[in-house]
Amino acid sequence: MSFPINRPRRLRQNRTIRRLIRENSVSVDDLVQPLFVVPGNNVKAEIGSMPGQYHLSVDQAAKEASRISSLGIPAVILFGIPEKKDNVGSEAYAENGIIQKAVKEIKKSAPDLLVITDVCLCEYTDHGHCGVVKDKQVANDPTLELLAKTALSHARAGADIVAPSDMMDGRVGAIRNALDDNGFNNIPILSYAVKYASAYYGPFRNAAGSAPRFGDRKGYQMDPANAFEAIREAELDIDEGADMIMVKPGIAYLDILNKIKQKFGRVTAVYQVSGEYAMIEAAGKMNLIDRKAIIMETLLSFKRAGADFILTYYASEVAGWLSKIS
Ligand code: PBG
Ligand code: ZN
Repeated sequence: MSFPINRPRRLRQNRTIRRLIRENSVSVDDLVQPLFVVPGNNVKAEIGSMPGQYHLSVDQAAKEASRISSLGIPAVILFGIPEKKDNVGSEAYAENGIIQKAVKEIKKSAPDLLVITDVCLCEYTDHGHCGVVKDKQVANDPTLELLAKTALSHARAGADIVAPSDMMDGRVGAIRNALDDNGFNNIPILSYAVKYASAYYGPFRNAAGSAPRFGDRKGYQMDPANAFEAIREAELDIDEGADMIMVKPGIAYLDILNKIKQKFGRVTAVYQVSGEYAMIEAAGKMNLIDRKAIIMETLLSFKRAGADFILTYYASEVAGWLSKIS
């Protein structure tokens, strides 16, 4: 009978040695908290499709932002639900739109917190598509101008980083030009470079009232069957000047996240989206899983796959846990 010489278990004997050799970890520095901003005053209304997440009026968002900042979280990403929608998404680039107001107030209440703004039209258009609709199609090039205007208006309001999520071709370049032409050459672009047409966005669309009224987003978001195309998308955005790239959704696309990080070595984010959140919440509520352990294991899997940071609805809750762990 021969015994093994190689025993990986030697390095798993106790908590301390496991801690010593651990390859990856989740830190508060890795987290970005999404916030939903709505019209009104003193509004804090739980979102039906995303229990534990809230619609916040500007004043409440500013209050929440300062709490988030004091937890040590580096950034929030803002989504806006406008007072009114129209077919060109005017409120997305209105000087006094919901996001523009929220950015200003948040920068006042939490000056060190990075404010990232989601740049898209779907929350602001009455048809719910991410761009201008012509002949039942989302028209690429006319949309670029509006996205650039939106990003510029966010920068003027004081946003630290703009994050286009529309998946139009050429939008990173168009936004970079608009920012640079107007003195905002220091504002980084976090591009949703690799964004799949995913059913995992369902709860968000309910929260933002941004579901398309006709058709779907398959004409602009990526086919979940494709991996090589993700490399092409990331490459184009990098060439157009994206400072950071994102893969979205998270858990079902870890292979893509890993490929993109390995291939380009760029700052790469991942978005744990609303459907991923909703599923964990539902299973947790039914006591089918150890909710906290599942959340931490999932976030760790993003880091292991190569994410530099994570957009997650769990950011502030996890920050609280991390500050208590010895
Ligand atoms: C807007 C946008 C969406 C998400 C982020 N930005 C929805 C969509 O593309 O339909 C999804 C976020 C989530 O599901 O948590 N384009
Ligand atoms: Zn959109």
